[in-house]
Amino acid sequence: DSTPILTIDGPSGSGKGTISRIVAQQLGWHYLDSGALYRAVAVAAGWADVDLADPSALVRCTFDTDIRFVDEPGHELKILVNGADATLELRTETAGAAASAIAAIPEVRSALVERQRRFAREPGLVTDGRDMGTVIFPNARYKVFLTASAKERAERRYKQLIDKGVSVTIDGLLREILARDARDSQRTVAPLRPAPDAAHVDTTGLSIQEVVEQVLSVVRS
Ligand code: C5P
Repeated sequence: DSTPILTIDGPSGSGKGTISRIVAQQLGWHYLDSGALYRAVAVAAGWADVDLADPSALVRCTFDTDIRFVDEPGHELKILVNGADATLELRTETAGAAASAIAAIPEVRSALVERQRRFAREPGLVTDGRDMGTVIFPNARYKVFLTASAKERAERRYKQLIDKGVSVTIDGLLREILARDARDSQRTVAPLRPAPDAAHVDTTGLSIQEVVEQVLSVVRS
């Protein structure tokens, strides 16, 4: 398989989403936000009153949920879940926490493997998540692992939420980020960890443009 793939994995708040989208646009490649798939399943499960503690019902829900990405240059990535625009609902902390819970269920993860691999199309794919370079695309040509200090990630998230008019505290966000890190890296299936062949980029103190340059240099080197 020769389609070039760039995987960008890292913890929440490392800037993966922003960076991946810009890099994909600059390369003219397709983009897969794998976290949005987990968020979409979690949201669809909520709509259908599916018990988050019932793995087989969640697996059924994973197969039944229609998820579409509307990705137009210059516009925010729009996500349709069963035909409804769920872009805003997907970005809430509630959806993130529910996604993180269902993402720990092995059967839900396997139900999403093929769906993710189908995004690999010419001229190339940029994909971000937790296990893109380790599990979904282990043979990807380019792999990046993005990090940032927990404090910086909490501050970035704080700015985003305050800009949206959501009232939060940095300490509260920091606690949530540390709890999510622990859950994502300690789970037994597809834990968050760098692929052995991933280039590490620490984004602490770097601007978006500086991170984009470093990631692009991995592809161009
Ligand atoms: O990246 P994002 O914050 O949108 O992901 C939401 C949750 O989905 C993460 O906390 C993680 O538990 C899960 N996830 C995952 N594997 C991925 C992407 C996301 O387990 N490839």
